[in-house]
Amino acid sequence: MEISGKTKLCALIGDPVEHSLSPAMHNAAFKHLGLNYVYLAFKVERERLKEAIAGVKALKIHGLNVTKPLKIDVIPLLDELHESASKVGAVNTILNRDGKLVGYNTDGLGALKALENAEVDLNGIKVVIFGAGGAARAVAFSIAPKVGEMVLLNRTVEKAERLAHDLEEKLGCKARFGGLSEEVKRRELRDADLVINATSVGMRPNKNLSLVNPDLLGPDLAVFELVYNPVETKLLKDARKAGSKVIDGLSLLLHQGVESFSIWTGVKPPIEVMRKALESALEDASDG
Ligand code: ATR
Repeated sequence: MEISGKTKLCALIGDPVEHSLSPAMHNAAFKHLGLNYVYLAFKVERERLKEAIAGVKALKIHGLNVTKPLKIDVIPLLDELHESASKVGAVNTILNRDGKLVGYNTDGLGALKALENAEVDLNGIKVVIFGAGGAARAVAFSIAPKVGEMVLLNRTVEKAERLAHDLEEKLGCKARFGGLSEEVKRRELRDADLVINATSVGMRPNKNLSLVNPDLLGPDLAVFELVYNPVETKLLKDARKAGSKVIDGLSLLLHQGVESFSIWTGVKPPIEVMRKALESALEDASDG
């Protein structure tokens, strides 16, 4: 790609950003479509976020992704919030629309697309979500209106309770909540249709950990893993063995990126190219 005076810049801001796979994914897509865009990652500390956003405006940077720990703090600095972000209370994508910064959240839509792609029909099913952090929140808000029953289980029960409360207040959706004891997991997973791991359990370097005992898995329970490093977590390996339908963590990363890409460019994203770029960037990162 020839960088010129007309090249548009999209960038990730957050801390840390060095190991992000987003630059590889988006630059591969820009290149494939011959779009005059480039994607970089900028480490921005929380206390310098205000300056960074002023810089985005002054430099007329076209689009941003926002990651930890800035997804909530960035909200008051924006000019407009799309419904996808205002409901969840977090922003992961910004579009500079003629000088106005508009905040979106594509994590929730990305999760829906990942599930749809795997042909998981959410209509009326029972879903158990492990976790109550940022990722769990985005996913829970997107699927809550569709599912029949939702259970939020988190190590810190108060956070699950707060999320359940917010779902009811903002969407009018009821969710039960609880902790992560074996007894609770056993009881809730017995008749569940889908379990989503939105905790960091299973992530490198603790890759031999899983929150689900293999005997709770089976062909009637689909498993959506949000951890993508490694892609084949212990949970996913156990789930495949048990005959469960599985959706891996790269799917969410991919589909949230696909949604961001269309917001910035208005062009249909090359999904396969983006998935391949993610896979090879992850391989390179694991080798290094
Ligand atoms: P993210 O943005 O990826 O969701 P986060 O907001 O820091 O990250 O949330 C991390 C989630 O993983 C939380 O639900 C956290 O549980 P707590 O709320 O109790 O901290 C969960 N988590 C992290 N380590 C865990 C562990 N060892 N066992 C169980 N849950 C864990």
